[in-house]
Amino acid sequence: MDRKLSREEARKRIAELREQIAYHEKKYYVDNDPQISDYEFDQLMAELRRLEEAYPEFITPDSPTQRVGEKPVEGFPTVEHRRSMLSLDNCYDVEELKEFDERIHKLLPGEKIEYVCELKIDGLSISITYIDGRYHQAVTRGDGFRGDDVTAQVKTIRSLPLTIPAKGEVEVRGEVYLSYEAFRKINQEREKNGELLFANPRNAAAGSIRLLDPKEVARRNLDLYLYYIFVNGEEFPSQWENLQQLKKFGFKTNPHNRLCRSLDEVIDYYREWTEKRDKLEYDVDGVVVKVNSTRQRELLGSTAKSPRWAIAFKFPARQATTRIKDIIIQVGRTGALTPVAILEPVQISGTTISRCTLHNEEELKRKDIRIGDFVLLERSGDVIPHVVSVMKERRTGQEKPVIWPKHCPVCHSAIYKEEGEAISRCINPSCPARIRESILHFASRRAMNIEGLGEALVDQLLNAGLVKQIPDLYSLKYEDLIRLERMGPKSAQNLLSQIEDSKSRELWRLIFALGIRHVGEKMAQALARKFRDLDRLAVASEEELMEIEDVGPKVARSIVFFFKQPENKKMLARLKAAGLNFKEKEEKAGPKPLEGLTFVLTGTLSSMTRDQAKEIIEKLGGSVGSSVSRKTDYLVVGEDPGSKLDKARELGVKTLNEQEFLKLIGKA
Ligand code: IVH
Repeated sequence: MDRKLSREEARKRIAELREQIAYHEKKYYVDNDPQISDYEFDQLMAELRRLEEAYPEFITPDSPTQRVGEKPVEGFPTVEHRRSMLSLDNCYDVEELKEFDERIHKLLPGEKIEYVCELKIDGLSISITYIDGRYHQAVTRGDGFRGDDVTAQVKTIRSLPLTIPAKGEVEVRGEVYLSYEAFRKINQEREKNGELLFANPRNAAAGSIRLLDPKEVARRNLDLYLYYIFVNGEEFPSQWENLQQLKKFGFKTNPHNRLCRSLDEVIDYYREWTEKRDKLEYDVDGVVVKVNSTRQRELLGSTAKSPRWAIAFKFPARQATTRIKDIIIQVGRTGALTPVAILEPVQISGTTISRCTLHNEEELKRKDIRIGDFVLLERSGDVIPHVVSVMKERRTGQEKPVIWPKHCPVCHSAIYKEEGEAISRCINPSCPARIRESILHFASRRAMNIEGLGEALVDQLLNAGLVKQIPDLYSLKYEDLIRLERMGPKSAQNLLSQIEDSKSRELWRLIFALGIRHVGEKMAQALARKFRDLDRLAVASEEELMEIEDVGPKVARSIVFFFKQPENKKMLARLKAAGLNFKEKEEKAGPKPLEGLTFVLTGTLSSMTRDQAKEIIEKLGGSVGSSVSRKTDYLVVGEDPGSKLDKARELGVKTLNEQEFLKLIGKA
């Protein structure tokens, strides 16, 4: 702000900024279709904050600056629901669904029935009211008649509009949930702090909404899909129109909802999503099938518990019960001791599970998991299988608790626990288990990508004494390899040429492959960009390192520590002598078939996230813009595209559907 605004000008500018911010929040969080960069968005927010600070009399609770309340709330007062929040009957197979449909036809003889199918998100339901267009209150389902007031908590959900263009009272209902990504982040942090882990995203969402401090809630990244709307106590003539109205008001509705004209279409929808549900970024446990017509719904009515016009058609369970045969303690690359349950093999939705991580000592103790216990296992989406609970009533008294070792179970060195961490580690950097894991990490696809160098082969190489340290990989000879069991001339040759190829990998891969603590792929890329040379990185100071965004004191210390260790110095010298690339290449390697082409993305792709698509396009030499213009070469159109598609049509910009896009990038 260059000049001082008059009070009146400030009032106007504040109103303008709020409108712009609300628009961009919707574009970003609801439509997944950002129109400005994060930086530009932050600028708008900063300007609004400055103005509100100068003119606090203009602050209103629906200002985007007020999403996160300053003070923790005292508790959760109980609130009675205006209309009770019923639950749903369940069914588990097509037969039961047909019975549901028959019941409806019996009650409404001769009528044609349409259904709306919605994904049943596994979260918690919530009722939210607006009065004269302003966010007013949010209440959990509770017992269906009364729930807890979580107004301040729900307000932090960025996809939720704080104002809507409506008079009177509007109530909306929907499901609060956590994406797998948000869930993993929460658990990672909890694991680091030695806190009990949440069993699944649903529990984590339920725990998050009950945090007293809205600042803490905001950090959890809850999200929300709406499926119900009452405007001054009235519904629209159909559920499909309810959903359209929600969208019009700027609420987030699930893009996969579908209007079905027949029961067969409902069954198709269910089958389709039974297959595809693992591709979603959040957990769904079934399909909610609802009669579309409001008139018909009213005729059908409800029982005390649930409506007769809707049913939850559940997906096959992703839980199973099994017994823990043994609990072993594995030593990882960083020396971390991880308890792993060896299970009686059990199938969960098509995958056989025979082992499962128990995370750490604390988790083991807190859940009181013992050898011989029956446990409930769960595998949801892309979350690795985990123990939900121990079935203590099935204990016979023969179960054995794990005695936590005082020494590394592999090399018998001492173990230590860093302050504030739940994880014990082996102190010996040349512990055979650590070396094995380091080599596997070094060779892994996302690091040096040495194909064929998996667990079995690494074990053979270690056992034969051919490899003792990572650099030994580069002195392997054909004569040595061919002597190994199950190693033919062709595989030996292949492995050698894979190892040879790995010498010229990008610098960031090598940095990541070294396995420095706290240095993941992203961080390795940032380090490569800044230092451009591994020898430079190896002598960087903590201060220099902290100039990089996202590098805090902990990461900087860990990097400096790594390069100071004599055994690491030796390793780097040997890798250099073997001819590995230590420098950032000027040109990114690989063919650039998309050179000079500009892409814009809209809608949801089923095979990858937007970030992944962007990364691939850029890697192939193309660039990705945020809005469609005449300069755009292709608009990639996913499911439920935004307004960009209209724009592209208007300007005659070529569009690609997902299949065509995959072909273009060579993935189909
Ligand atoms: S309709 C009377 N629609 O499932 C109708 N519920 O077992 C009640 N849920 O408590 C809800 N997605 O938490 C409806 N698209 C959806 C839903 C959904 C998830 C949850 C909701 C409800 C429970 C019913």
